[in-house]
Amino acid sequence: MAAPTIDDEILAVGRDVAGRFPSAARRPLKALDDKAMDLASQDDQLRAALFRFVDVVPACRSLDDLARHLTGFLEEVPDRPPPLEVAMKMSSTKAGRTALGAASAAGVRHMAHRFIVGETPREATKILQELWRTGAATSVDLLGEATVTSAEADRYAQRCAEALDQLAGVYEDLPPKPQLERDSMGRLPRANLSVKVSALTPLLRPDAPEIGKRDAAPRLRELLHRAKQRGAHLHIDMESFDSREAVTDLVLELLSEPEFQDGPSAGLVLQAYLRDSPPLCDRITAWAAQTNRASPLTVRLVKGAYWDHEVVEARQHGWDAPVFEIKADSDRNFEDLTVRLLEARPSVRPAIASHNLRSVAHAIAQNRRLGAPDEDLELQVLRGLGDDLEHALAGLGMRVRTYCPVGDLVAGMAYLVRRLLENTSNESFLHEQARGVPLATLLAAP
Ligand code: 2OP
Repeated sequence: MAAPTIDDEILAVGRDVAGRFPSAARRPLKALDDKAMDLASQDDQLRAALFRFVDVVPACRSLDDLARHLTGFLEEVPDRPPPLEVAMKMSSTKAGRTALGAASAAGVRHMAHRFIVGETPREATKILQELWRTGAATSVDLLGEATVTSAEADRYAQRCAEALDQLAGVYEDLPPKPQLERDSMGRLPRANLSVKVSALTPLLRPDAPEIGKRDAAPRLRELLHRAKQRGAHLHIDMESFDSREAVTDLVLELLSEPEFQDGPSAGLVLQAYLRDSPPLCDRITAWAAQTNRASPLTVRLVKGAYWDHEVVEARQHGWDAPVFEIKADSDRNFEDLTVRLLEARPSVRPAIASHNLRSVAHAIAQNRRLGAPDEDLELQVLRGLGDDLEHALAGLGMRVRTYCPVGDLVAGMAYLVRRLLENTSNESFLHEQARGVPLATLLAAP
């Protein structure tokens, strides 16, 4: 018999993972916000109305005001499904508007709570500890980005420093979980914080990258110090393309400083939707190979969450978009980069972050094909989008890390909108899965 091909292996792994997803029958009844997201993914105008509404929620001062905004946006949707007709009728009286405002505010809050684990790390303790017990590590993300003043950037840095202290406490007395704490390259910190450079400086601008870098550097350096003291991991997120160069340079420069040679564990992000990500991957892995840091550089591979922004921005300027415009191209690139990162060990630790079953099964199968143990591969998901996948992967004994945002609704609005874009895009894997597309199709090569 012929040896199985990599696609056969991906199919086998994918079936194994999918077999551990909860069956549709065991799912709780769909919540209001689920229905709203379902409706929105079927109708572009409704989708636009949902986004405009979510955006104004934090600024609305009364339920009446909220209901007026909601119906104002819905008026522009030509074919309203029946539940929305009911909402429009309710809005004709003051009592109806109060009820509608309350229901829709609760819907948005519920939607936000699905993605955000608490207002502070301390408040999120129960969820973080429960995740650990059920087999998932976390990276906590303090919501907030694109600060406009130095005072704001200082406050964000201060909150991050406190979060590192609090996380050390959250994870102190939990039972050992070997697959979450160690791989063949060494120890993995339990406490793990993700930060955004656009929140650490108000000066991150594409036309003057040096200024932003210089302004963010002392705050980021201080956080690296604190992470080192606390034995925590510090991860620096990647944001839109126009800050990509500055953020990459900043992280690699700081991590090259002698005082960080023996810690902390740290990492950055590679976005596979960027057409020029392969040379950047080479630059990062080459840097890691020739830098003698005690812990490998964690590289979180993602597709990228700013696709709509990048495409609109490029069109406005008449530029070519920096991102692949066809999803399959981005998925293929993700697979190529996965292999490059797996092969770059032990100087990097690959963390493959995707909710796409094919991309995840591909990473597991390729890792095994390279003869590496499962423990040398990290998989990451986002809280609220990847929960089923997280359970399935933890059940298989894989190391899975869930990205857990912390903060309030106002700070989290941009994040929430990116998650809604992902969840209501009808090109998304989550959408196809929800529509019941067969497993073999979902697992086919992109
Ligand atoms: C974002 O903030 C998950 O870092 C990613 O959208």
